[in-house]
Amino acid sequence: MPSALASLLLLALPCARAADLALPAELFSPLVAQKILATAQSAQSPPKYPQYTDRAEGAWEYFAPDTWTSGFFPATLYALHARATLCPSAGLNGTDWVALGQTWAAAEVPSETHTGVGHDVGFLSFPFALELEIDPSNQTAIAAVNNFATELANRFDPVVGCTRSWDTADPTDFQVIIDNMMNLEVLFVSANLTGNQTLRDIATSHADKTAVNHVRPDGGSFHVVDYNATTGSVISRHTSQGYADNSTWSRGQSWGVYGFANMFKHTGNISYLETSRRMAAYFLDNLPDDGIVPWDFNAPLVPPRPADSSAAMVVANGLLLLSQGELSLSPPNKTGSDYYTSAAIQIVANMTALAWRPEWQSLLANGTVNNPQLNNLTGIVYGDYYFVRAGNELVSLGIATCNGSLTGTLPATPTASSTPSSAAPSASDRAASGAGRVAEAALGVAFAFAFAGTLLL
Ligand SMILES: *[C@@H]1O[C@H](CO)[C@@H](O)[C@H](O)[C@H]1NC(C)=O
Ligand SMILES: *[C@@H]1O[C@H](CO)[C@@H](O)[C@H](O)[C@H]1NC(C)=O
Ligand SMILES: *[C@@H]1O[C@H](CO)[C@@H](O)[C@H](O)[C@H]1NC(C)=O
Ligand SMILES: *[C@@H]1O[C@H](CO)[C@@H](O)[C@H](O)[C@H]1NC(C)=O
Ligand SMILES: *[C@@H]1O[C@H](CO)[C@@H](O)[C@H](O)[C@H]1NC(C)=O
Ligand SMILES: *[C@@H]1O[C@H](CO)[C@@H](O)[C@H](O)[C@H]1NC(C)=O
Ligand SMILES: *[C@@H]1O[C@H](CO)[C@@H](O)[C@H](O)[C@H]1NC(C)=O
Ligand SMILES: *[C@@H]1O[C@H](CO)[C@@H](O)[C@H](O)[C@H]1NC(C)=O
Ligand SMILES: *[C@@H]1O[C@H](CO)[C@@H](O)[C@H](O)[C@H]1NC(C)=O
Ligand SMILES: *[C@@H]1O[C@H](CO)[C@@H](O)[C@H](O)[C@H]1NC(C)=O
Ligand SMILES: *[C@@H]1O[C@H](CO)[C@@H](O)[C@H](O)[C@H]1NC(C)=O
Ligand SMILES: *[C@@H]1O[C@H](CO)[C@@H](O)[C@H](O)[C@H]1NC(C)=O
Repeated sequence: MPSALASLLLLALPCARAADLALPAELFSPLVAQKILATAQSAQSPPKYPQYTDRAEGAWEYFAPDTWTSGFFPATLYALHARATLCPSAGLNGTDWVALGQTWAAAEVPSETHTGVGHDVGFLSFPFALELEIDPSNQTAIAAVNNFATELANRFDPVVGCTRSWDTADPTDFQVIIDNMMNLEVLFVSANLTGNQTLRDIATSHADKTAVNHVRPDGGSFHVVDYNATTGSVISRHTSQGYADNSTWSRGQSWGVYGFANMFKHTGNISYLETSRRMAAYFLDNLPDDGIVPWDFNAPLVPPRPADSSAAMVVANGLLLLSQGELSLSPPNKTGSDYYTSAAIQIVANMTALAWRPEWQSLLANGTVNNPQLNNLTGIVYGDYYFVRAGNELVSLGIATCNGSLTGTLPATPTASSTPSSAAPSASDRAASGAGRVAEAALGVAFAFAFAGTLLL
């Protein structure tokens, strides 16, 4: 079949599906701010931070400040400040979200030094980086970002080429987890503040090694890679939180999609965009037909594998970042951008339908913290954070309004003659994989917008 005709068919097929692409109203529900405010006002003394809920009532369980997840709740409060600004009519201005964010971040400050959280200093830095977006001269926040970055830089080993994730009894056993891709952000923020290029070099070295040693040829990923710190060689690849040593743990995969798209944002190096694309393709190709993100892509279907709504919300944000990366290319890759935006919207919609729990303290249920430790079916603080951020991003990018409708300003698909079908899998691939559904809907919505654009013209 001539490729132009094939492209036209691709455009024609999914018209009925365009109507399927809709945001869940819950993304902008008043309950989002109400629940988060209620948790914020329940601040404990001495301070403790919500991490996950119990499975029955959805009540938060609280952890000491030097836990890897402590930054997410204060970061969520900053995200609500951003929402108040993005959505002036949402009625969120009655609360001083920044003051709450500052209050909740304060107990993290002692973790800047002598921290037990290892590489997770990057996650702890999030609220301080967000504070700097509001007040770039806040010295407390500047010090926090720089101190956390120094902590991470001190974990860099030039022989291995990575920052160490977990400490081990044998110091030559150098463990790196895929999650660590998220912590590189603090190095870029600090490098921006100090002009210290070494921090950027550490981040790129870590990402390069991770792309080679964690990401598999099929685009899936290993959770843990053990290096020998003496020789720099890989000792083993295995899992901690996944189903099997060779399986792809969903949240690790989502950290990777996000982390490599973020590397592209900070460096402009196309090789990172390509790694993020490969990891995204694995994620989307391996989603089951119902679109429910499982906790591990290789976990058996029987007994029913629990979902992980947190992996879903992380990857949705990663896909939006990847989508922006495609748009930043010259010329902009609008087809690719639309494809990832549509996939992000579908994942948020599918998982909100499963996991939204008005009666719980968390926004979402169906998170899997650590299935090997039998911790599944909970709310999770980072799932909620990335849920709020997904809504903010969609509004900020002009894709959605604050009442949860799509604006119709998704960029139109270029005409068939100028569009290689490279963004979409081939017809036979589409028949065989979940990605085909995403591609159809992406093209469908692009077609719908192009059509609407024609009517307007
Ligand atoms: C709410 O505050 C933001 C700035 O934080 C402002 O842009 C917006 O106009 C305010 N909305 C109302 C209704 O006052
Ligand atoms: C600066 O940020 C810190 C940490 O978030 C906060 O505790 C402090 O109140 C902020 N200072 C000012 C002057 O806003
Ligand atoms: C840059 O950062 C590295 C890693 O923390 C540090 O060793 C070095 O001293 C810093 N350079 C300067 C000029 O501060
Ligand atoms: C790393 O390699 C060195 C030198 O070959 C060896 O002595 C050490 O036991 C190795 N460490 C691990 C964790 O394999
Ligand atoms: C670095 O600073 C520039 C200019 O202030 C800003 O646009 C950019 O977002 C900053 N990047 C990071 C990683 O903070
Ligand atoms: C881009 O990254 C790749 C590895 O990820 C590296 O080999 C290459 O040199 C980088 N390119 C530039 C221009 O820095
Ligand atoms: C993992 O290894 C097992 C045992 O060798 C094998 O049966 C399984 O197919 C592998 N799974 C993946 C996803 O490679
Ligand atoms: C979302 O769910 C719908 C209906 O179950 C399905 O057709 C679609 O493929 C799913 N999309 C994603 C990206 O999971
Ligand atoms: C989602 O969570 C509910 C309980 O909160 C549970 O009954 C259901 O089986 C879960 N679904 C999945 C796919 O994890
Ligand atoms: C556009 O993005 C898609 C999806 O990432 C990719 O397959 C395609 O090669 C990209 N096209 C260009 C011209 O970069
Ligand atoms: C989920 O966790 C429960 C314990 O909380 C455990 O009994 C169950 O086996 C786990 N589910 C799966 C499918 O692993
Ligand atoms: C949502 O907001 C847009 C513009 O802000 C408006 O045109 C549209 O009518 C609203 N939709 C609903 C259902 O309120």
